[in-house]
Amino acid sequence: VSIVICGGAGFIAVNLLDEFLQDNQVFVLDNLSRGSLVYLNKYADNPNLKFIEHELSDLDQTAKVFGEINDISSISEVWHMAANSDILAGVESPEIDLRDTFLTTHCILLAMKNVGAKKFYFASSSAIYGDMEGKPASESSGPLLPISNYGAMKLASEGLISAATESFLDIGLMYRFPNVVGVPATHGVIFDLIRKLKNNQSELEVLGDGTQQKSYLHVSDLVGAMLYLRDYGKVNSRDVFNIGPVDDGVRVSTIAETVVNRVSPGAKINYGTSDRGWVGDVPKFSYSLDKLLATGWKPKLSSLEAVKLAVDEISVQLAEF
Ligand SMILES: NC(=O)c1ccc[n+]([C@@H]2O[C@H](COP(=O)([O-])OP(=O)(O)OC[C@H]3O[C@@H](n4cnc5c(N)ncnc54)[C@H](O)[C@@H]3O)[C@@H](O)[C@H]2O)c1
Repeated sequence: VSIVICGGAGFIAVNLLDEFLQDNQVFVLDNLSRGSLVYLNKYADNPNLKFIEHELSDLDQTAKVFGEINDISSISEVWHMAANSDILAGVESPEIDLRDTFLTTHCILLAMKNVGAKKFYFASSSAIYGDMEGKPASESSGPLLPISNYGAMKLASEGLISAATESFLDIGLMYRFPNVVGVPATHGVIFDLIRKLKNNQSELEVLGDGTQQKSYLHVSDLVGAMLYLRDYGKVNSRDVFNIGPVDDGVRVSTIAETVVNRVSPGAKINYGTSDRGWVGDVPKFSYSLDKLLATGWKPKLSSLEAVKLAVDEISVQLAEF
């Protein structure tokens, strides 16, 4: 049997590979729009990994590729990690979220139906909750009113998965992530700040006034939680879990100071005036993790520890490339 990872050359998916390749044949599908083959280099000699450059929003081609994979090795699980991870790009051009976040979900689900693949694991996001004005967002919160196209297309994708679970999927497990940090970083606040500071070592411009406060989860904890829930045995066939650290998060100003201290000590930090970094940014976000913690899973790192570790890791990553 095989596992298919859609968007498998991206940041989070690459971190799943170490786990999957131990005893499975893994097919990675990615159009390389934001991911990179460089991240798969360390597996170049692993006969269990096959990379296929592929556009997942193409219905016919996706059905064809899934058919070919299933003929080689029956598909047991599909992980959908592809999306437009650039929220700002989607504010300017909503069709990017429509294509990379929503249509990919639609095409993958139909391709799974064709081959009879029945287990689907989805990278959803805290963005589906919109601005809860500081109230903890729990899996039973509603109405869900996202404030970015990115969040809207994630929520619409959850709807499709839910419906597919009624008709042909055995498992439709939706994981709602907060900000995830670690390497190989492809985007995100730490990545952006370090890159800016490398270009101008004396000053750092920060989007927003620095008071935005959010949870940050290290990718190692995220991967641990996703696999724990997959194997937990007590999830419903259609289920959704918030995954995050157990704290109130850290402020953007703390991240900016950590980056400056690590990359260019003494650089001046210039904040904006708005409490939002960009359209669709939620100033304060807090997660309810009761459902996740009740399963017995616990994160190893707090938001602050995850940020500090990721600042170190991403500094090294960006020095290498
Ligand atoms: N990183 C975070 O903080 C975070 C938070 C919440 C949710 N998520 C979700 O987790 C998943 C992985 O995120 P990531 O941070 O690794 O992002 P990423 O951009 O590094 O990975 C996404 C991958 O999908 C690929 N892709 C995008 N559109 C595609 C298409 N149409 N066809 C084929 N491949 C396509 C990209 O090339 C990339 O390799 C995404 O669904 C993202 O929305 C991430």
